[in-house]
Amino acid sequence: MSMIHSLDALEILDSRGRPTVRTTCALTSGAVGIASVPSGASTGAAEALELRDGDPSRYRGLGCRKAVGHIRGEIAHALVGVEMNNQSTLDRALIALDGTPNKSRLGANALLAVSVAFARAQAAEQGIPLYQHFAAIHTPGRKADSLPRPTINLFSGGKHAGGQVPIQDVLVVPVAAQTADEAMATTYAVYQAAADLTLEKYGMRALTADEGGLAPPFADAEAMLGDAVAAIERAGYVPGQEVALALDVASSHFYADGRYHLGGEPLDSAGMIRHLLGWLERYPIVSLEDGLAEEDWANWPKLRQAIDGHALVLGDDFLCTNPARIRRAIDAGAADALLLKVNQIGTLSEAAESSRMAQAAGWHVTVSARSGETEDDWLADLAVGWSGGHLKVGSITQSERLAKYNRLLAIEAETGWKMAG
Ligand code: PGA
Ligand code: ZN
Repeated sequence: MSMIHSLDALEILDSRGRPTVRTTCALTSGAVGIASVPSGASTGAAEALELRDGDPSRYRGLGCRKAVGHIRGEIAHALVGVEMNNQSTLDRALIALDGTPNKSRLGANALLAVSVAFARAQAAEQGIPLYQHFAAIHTPGRKADSLPRPTINLFSGGKHAGGQVPIQDVLVVPVAAQTADEAMATTYAVYQAAADLTLEKYGMRALTADEGGLAPPFADAEAMLGDAVAAIERAGYVPGQEVALALDVASSHFYADGRYHLGGEPLDSAGMIRHLLGWLERYPIVSLEDGLAEEDWANWPKLRQAIDGHALVLGDDFLCTNPARIRRAIDAGAADALLLKVNQIGTLSEAAESSRMAQAAGWHVTVSARSGETEDDWLADLAVGWSGGHLKVGSITQSERLAKYNRLLAIEAETGWKMAG
């Protein structure tokens, strides 16, 4: 049982310099939790709504003063001094107070900042590590005992890099690494090899995209994948055996009029599936995210059957961490892995429900950051507490990404746990 003594909020700036929300939650016990929330750019249509001020004269309309005002006003007014059994009591109160299906009245950014700040305050109140508190929020009695395996952004395209190539991310998966420490060192070697290759082949310094990935002017997606394999080899690793690839196709963003505009002739869904299978045959891809568009429901089961367990069929924009969409996808056999982004749904409790539902169906869960992040590191604790799978945070550059990797390294040093996967 906890009671909120005060709630405060501040508009801060994320890694793209856009406003976002930071909240401070103080409990009557004196415990305090502070949390900042991220923001996406390559968003799914079914995501909960991030409330923005809409005033074009300030931050091009992206200000978060309204969301901050809701926390300091209406939300604080409703929650301060009320007994809270646990996270679920708080989150249910937030959802009821907002009263809309997509959190558009008070804003999912406002709700999530309060949800996570409260969790942090409760962990402090109980004197337990945040990752163990997150584990208990996920499932009462659950104890974290392993670390997620990082999947790390190497090359960027799509919405994170000005669209020089339609697909969004090629990620490195250090499959042979035994520890998070080794995973980071392996990734550094591959990233530096990719930076050298970028300079030689494209005459480009290591300028980075939104999530810190390299973004040279690839001729097409095949060049992006081929260069990733070349970087792995150049770093001295065996592609597929020691370092594999994950791909975020983010195909909703080049899907129009029932066709996939990947460059060349637009592809129908069957053509797109054949194209993806071609990539899986030629490159060591272990996970395929948003291979089809978020509204292409009829074809996701065909994609999953075609891939037949050779790579994870991972839904991001497709599922939006939304329990109703995940249930539908499980029933349809449309995927076998969930990309979990807490701000797509707006509270910790609902995201935990999504994670439990996916895991109960035997799915794999990757806990993910957004392309717009802050220096806050709570996501690493969440991934340790919830996942047992993968952590997707972006590249091995830029402190908003490294805050999470550094936290993972600290948890590893503290616990000595093995990496999952
Ligand atoms: P975001 O995209 O820009 O919406 O955070 C990241 C992703 O698609 O995985
Ligand atoms: Zn994605």
